[in-house]
Amino acid sequence: MAKVKTVFFCKECGYESGGYMGKCPACQEWNTFVEKKITNDKTKDVFASKSPFGAKKAQVINDIESMSHTRVKTGYNEFDRVLGGGIVPGSLVLIAGDPGIGKSTLMLMLSGFVSQQEKVLYVSGEESEAQIKMRAGRLNITGENLFVFSETSITDILEQADEISPSYIIIDSVQTLYDSNIDSVPGSVTQIREITATLMRISKQNKITIFIVGHVTKDGGIAGPRVLEHMVDTVLYFEGERHMSFRILRCVKNRFGSTREIGVFEMRDTGLVQIENPSQAMLTGRPLDTPGTAVVCTMEGTRPMLVEIQALISNSNLTNPRRMATGFDYNRVALLLAVLEKRVGLKMYDADAFVNVIGGIKIYEPAADLGLAAAIISSYTNKVIPHDYIFFGEIGLTGEVRAVSNIEKRINESIRLSFKTIVVPTGNKDAIESAITNKNFDLNGVEIRYVGNVKELIW
Ligand code: TYD
Ligand code: MG
Repeated sequence: MAKVKTVFFCKECGYESGGYMGKCPACQEWNTFVEKKITNDKTKDVFASKSPFGAKKAQVINDIESMSHTRVKTGYNEFDRVLGGGIVPGSLVLIAGDPGIGKSTLMLMLSGFVSQQEKVLYVSGEESEAQIKMRAGRLNITGENLFVFSETSITDILEQADEISPSYIIIDSVQTLYDSNIDSVPGSVTQIREITATLMRISKQNKITIFIVGHVTKDGGIAGPRVLEHMVDTVLYFEGERHMSFRILRCVKNRFGSTREIGVFEMRDTGLVQIENPSQAMLTGRPLDTPGTAVVCTMEGTRPMLVEIQALISNSNLTNPRRMATGFDYNRVALLLAVLEKRVGLKMYDADAFVNVIGGIKIYEPAADLGLAAAIISSYTNKVIPHDYIFFGEIGLTGEVRAVSNIEKRINESIRLSFKTIVVPTGNKDAIESAITNKNFDLNGVEIRYVGNVKELIW
């Protein structure tokens, strides 16, 4: 007879324990433990323990056939770049993002492109076939090889996959699917975990590339257990402000390539359009001759990108002045305000400060510090930064401006977009001078200005 065992696990991270716990020791969340009954059924066990990779014996490394190096194009250079050069056949890719950001649109456009060569099964648990058809019509997607299936039962989906035998399966979204053998609602940790495990097995055994769409919760994590991220080969985040048009595809895990690259897209009426020259796009419509705006150069993977940062400093009537940061790390902004107060003498204690990165972009790089400081000082003093100035440098707690990496790429991009005064850290001077000697830049009329401390920042 099957033996029933009870275990408890955390619905945030999937941590498993024999007894109930108030606080999860793995992710430190409170009241996340739920009970699960496990039937120790022998037939099920055999199925569960089957390796997804097929090999039953360890092999000598020299004898193993390596994975195919051929990568398949997605139809978007920007997407290919993020994946490390294209899709690796047989991989399992998770695309996560806020609702409404464009995941389904991206997946449908990808399906439209790859189905020109091979069969694609597009499974939607959120939209009906007619709805998908309507969207496909708007995006101009047609094809004999693109199969659309509105279904939430994993058993039925696998049956269809078996019948069609596609090379690609899109699952939109993992939170809507359920496995009827599991006694919990769709979207629960147990369901997501089991369904992903099933998809992984299918993908590895039959060399099917599977894209799984996943929603993100309010606090930015993928709704569901962390194990989801551990199981898949690649994790991509599709991000941006919903009401702004730019979208960034960012890789956070990649078993087949670097995780440093991003892809830039714009959501238009005709679908997603890739932006191969993001700096230009980000700077269009920039207000000139207005205090409180500065341009910085941030490195996104191997690619430099120019972005506008705005700051608004105003008198506060509140006991605790307001601080707000969009697109920039809040703590970093607080730190920079403190440095500017202490080292430059800005009186920030009775001022509200708002910081915004234009275009719905998120900046993670400290090299943008100097530009942010310039925008803050400009708003505070009401003094316009000339529109052809650009800044890069990291600011330390003593106000020192520290050298940044990839200085040549940043300068070249700035010159390409017609900036005339480039404000850089003194620490980069040697590198820049040798680059000038080697004629790596065409400085023609461009001034490089060095700053060692934020106090020296003037324009
Ligand atoms: P969608 O792909 O459904 O988002 P997700 O799957 O991530 O929830 O896209 C949602 C938004 O995109 C929707 O609000 C409308 C907009 N959109 C366009 O602007 N242009 C288009 O061509 C399409 C298909 C969608
Ligand atoms: Mg969707």
